[in-house]
Amino acid sequence: MRRRTRFNHPSAVATTLLLVIVILPAFHAAENISYSFTSFNDSVKSSFAFRGDATIYQGALQLTPDSRNGDNLLINKSGRILLPDPIKLWDWQQSNNTKRVASFNTAFTINVFRDNGTVPGEGLTFLIAPNVDEPPPGSYGPFLGLTNASLDGNNSNHFVAIEFDTAKQPYDRDDNHVGLDINGVDSNITASLTPLGIEIAPVNPTNHTVWIDYDGVHRHVWVYMAVEGSEKPVAAVLNASIDISDYVLQSSHLGFSASTGNNFELNCVIAWNLTVEKLPDDGGGLSLGAIIGVAVGVGCVLVVMTLTTRILVVFCRRKRAAGNERDMLRKKLNGLPGTPREFEYKELKVSTGNFDERRKLGQGAFGEVYKGVLPGSSMEVAVKRFSRDKTKGQDDFLAELTIINCLRHRNLVPLLGWCHENGVLLLVYEFMPNGSLDQHLYGGEGLVWWRRYNIVAGVASALHYIHHEYNQMVVHRDLKPSNIMLDATFDARLGDFGLARALDTDKTSFTELGVVGTRGYIANECCITQKFTRESDVYAFGTVVLEVVCGRRPLYDVSGFHLLVDWVWKLHREGRLLEAVDPRLGGEYPAEDAERMLLLGLACSQPHPGARPKAQAIVQIVSRSAPPPGVPKFKPAFVWPPPQGPLLKGNHDDDNGTSGTTLASSTATSSNGVFSSAGGWALSLDVETGDSEKISRR
Ligand SMILES: *[C@@H]1O[C@H](CO)[C@@H](O)[C@H](O)[C@H]1NC(C)=O
Ligand SMILES: *[C@@H]1O[C@H](CO)[C@@H](O)[C@H](O)[C@H]1NC(C)=O
Ligand SMILES: *[C@@H]1O[C@H](CO)[C@@H](O)[C@H](O)[C@H]1NC(C)=O
Ligand SMILES: *[C@@H]1O[C@H](CO)[C@@H](O)[C@H](O)[C@H]1NC(C)=O
Ligand SMILES: *[C@@H]1O[C@H](CO)[C@@H](O)[C@H](O)[C@H]1NC(C)=O
Ligand SMILES: *[C@@H]1O[C@H](CO)[C@@H](O)[C@H](O)[C@H]1NC(C)=O
Ligand SMILES: *[C@@H]1O[C@H](CO)[C@@H](O)[C@H](O)[C@H]1NC(C)=O
Ligand SMILES: *[C@@H]1O[C@H](CO)[C@@H](O)[C@H](O)[C@H]1NC(C)=O
Ligand SMILES: *[C@@H]1O[C@H](CO)[C@@H](O)[C@H](O)[C@H]1NC(C)=O
Ligand SMILES: *[C@@H]1O[C@H](CO)[C@@H](O)[C@H](O)[C@H]1NC(C)=O
Ligand SMILES: *[C@@H]1O[C@H](CO)[C@@H](O)[C@H](O)[C@H]1NC(C)=O
Repeated sequence: MRRRTRFNHPSAVATTLLLVIVILPAFHAAENISYSFTSFNDSVKSSFAFRGDATIYQGALQLTPDSRNGDNLLINKSGRILLPDPIKLWDWQQSNNTKRVASFNTAFTINVFRDNGTVPGEGLTFLIAPNVDEPPPGSYGPFLGLTNASLDGNNSNHFVAIEFDTAKQPYDRDDNHVGLDINGVDSNITASLTPLGIEIAPVNPTNHTVWIDYDGVHRHVWVYMAVEGSEKPVAAVLNASIDISDYVLQSSHLGFSASTGNNFELNCVIAWNLTVEKLPDDGGGLSLGAIIGVAVGVGCVLVVMTLTTRILVVFCRRKRAAGNERDMLRKKLNGLPGTPREFEYKELKVSTGNFDERRKLGQGAFGEVYKGVLPGSSMEVAVKRFSRDKTKGQDDFLAELTIINCLRHRNLVPLLGWCHENGVLLLVYEFMPNGSLDQHLYGGEGLVWWRRYNIVAGVASALHYIHHEYNQMVVHRDLKPSNIMLDATFDARLGDFGLARALDTDKTSFTELGVVGTRGYIANECCITQKFTRESDVYAFGTVVLEVVCGRRPLYDVSGFHLLVDWVWKLHREGRLLEAVDPRLGGEYPAEDAERMLLLGLACSQPHPGARPKAQAIVQIVSRSAPPPGVPKFKPAFVWPPPQGPLLKGNHDDDNGTSGTTLASSTATSSNGVFSSAGGWALSLDVETGDSEKISRR
């Protein structure tokens, strides 16, 4: 194996040994992460991420603008200033699967200034944020740069903040209070400062110092506040039990946010100290910096260094946690010759310009995709960052990755590597210059017929490969045009295969996929069984085929039908199938092929999973080596559990739909459909429309 040979190279071995000696103490040093800023000027500007209307000015962090440009520029502003490096705030303990939460102390001095004779607004917060993103649009006014009217209170916000609020909202106790905000601005606990003689924004300009102590063992927070220069008070103004690990991401960003509304104030931080207990690092992230530093000192060439670093990381991991399943899996992954490799987080961070918004290629069910260029080469990549905190599923994920890793097919997006550090998961794919299928189907000029046909053929081929050719059967689970990428020659490349299962072992994927956009690709039986199968993949494939031919989305409202498939079925019944073809093609397509595709799409959309063609048959139909599938004139009713034995096939085949009564008769047929509800499920299913929105757990 190549890797072994490299390891045996004398200089690599020597370097490795040297590094081991230098690095070892780093694994045992339990320190704190500390920051101290006694004042702020441009020389410390690079230590922060400034977002929204925030900046540094006059020796202070200005979370909202200073008055230098006139009052109207002070109204309805919001800003955030955060430490750009994420800090690990909690962790799982391997031995007993409990969480360890970091303690922290912070002290900062604020100056909330208002003009004499004006009413202050709105407030400032100390913030634990999931990322260094911009404050959301509309986060001015009562939202304190934290949330906005649509996001407020949503659990997926993943923030905890201590607010210093100077404007009374209907849910607030007064216009001068401290509050604990969890994922929303309607504080869970508040304390008025007025009885303590403290006014956040007094007429006489005053600096206040705030101390926030968090005890990660007892999961309790204390907030103290006093005029600058005073001793830390004995009594806290607010204290609360809170396990921050229930809300914030494992690695979060600390800092401040603030907003103004129609009333305004200056929201300044003029000094800040922070100490966070350093949790033991299991990702090797910290030691990497040391490794690189030493290696450069030793004067190794970059190539040797990179290789050595990786060997070392694996080596140390082996040493530290022999028998640890995750490490075994990592080892297995790293040991596969010619397969995707493990990337360092820093490498990917650099390659995507710190996950720059402007490089965002898209947003999927599980996370965002960024375009990047790998350092050291000019190779363009797509880096997928998973937004969900997946600490529990790590091992499952790695197990699944070993499968995904081995999949190689000309119609799959090649996976180049992955990175899993400090709870952040990234996958690196080859960059697809022509984007995804939906961009072409629904934007721009559409695609010419032969390209559409070729794309369907490619997807069919990929589906056949993952379903049947590969020895460990893989189910895609989320087949849709936004997951079908187009390479330089417009050949289809299936992306995200196996991910849904990899990321969700506890069946939540179903509800998660049930978001608008994916609806329409989910077969009816999935709603009942909560299981994705090859047949449900075929159903989604059928939807994609219809979309590609018709150029319309699956949830397409036309002449009383909610689903594209029902409309196409009706045209089929009426012998007008070709009317479904995308009018943008201007009639430029072989009618025979179009009919073949539409019938294939309908056959795959059969409500009964067993009636849908298998991937093998699909490939033959697409390659024209098998005739188009037979499709009943009426869409069969959805029956669950599925009837045993041969299916009732198109009992209306002889009825050529006398015009005028067709719609009515089809409705009657469908609502007469046999329907039995499976144990524990209450279902109300409009069979004709098959509208999956109506299927829900009661
Ligand atoms: C780390 O911080 C904690 C709390 O902030 C403090 O009690 C402890 O002394 C610090 N330890 C070191 C080594 O600085
Ligand atoms: C910025 O502040 C630091 C101390 O916090 C000081 O040493 C430095 O001279 C200041 N730089 C400027 C440009 O004022
Ligand atoms: C500030 O926002 C409020 C509420 O959205 C709005 O009524 C007001 O017109 C805004 N003021 C300015 C100057 O934009
Ligand atoms: C879990 O294990 C750690 C040591 O690994 C120990 O410190 C902690 O007290 C244990 N927690 C529980 C709840 O047993
Ligand atoms: C931060 O720490 C420094 C050094 O210990 C201290 O002089 C300063 O007062 C502290 N600042 C605040 C806001 O507590
Ligand atoms: C809130 O922010 C989200 C994105 O962060 C945005 O999509 C939404 O439109 C915003 N809502 C309002 C009311 O501004
Ligand atoms: C919470 O946010 C998520 C993701 O932004 C969204 O899917 C969900 O619908 C939101 N929930 C509510 C109750 O608004
Ligand atoms: C805090 O408030 C949020 C939203 O109202 C709620 O979901 C959460 O359970 C509350 N948490 C605590 C600890 O009270
Ligand atoms: C604020 O304005 C009032 C009335 O104009 C004046 O009496 C008071 O002295 C002013 N206070 C300060 C701190 O300037
Ligand atoms: C507040 O702090 C700033 C910066 O240290 C200082 O210039 C200003 O004089 C202070 N204001 C008061 C009222 O103490
Ligand atoms: C914590 O807050 C409660 C009220 O919420 C108060 O009764 C208690 O005395 C406080 N404890 C401390 C140590 O400040």
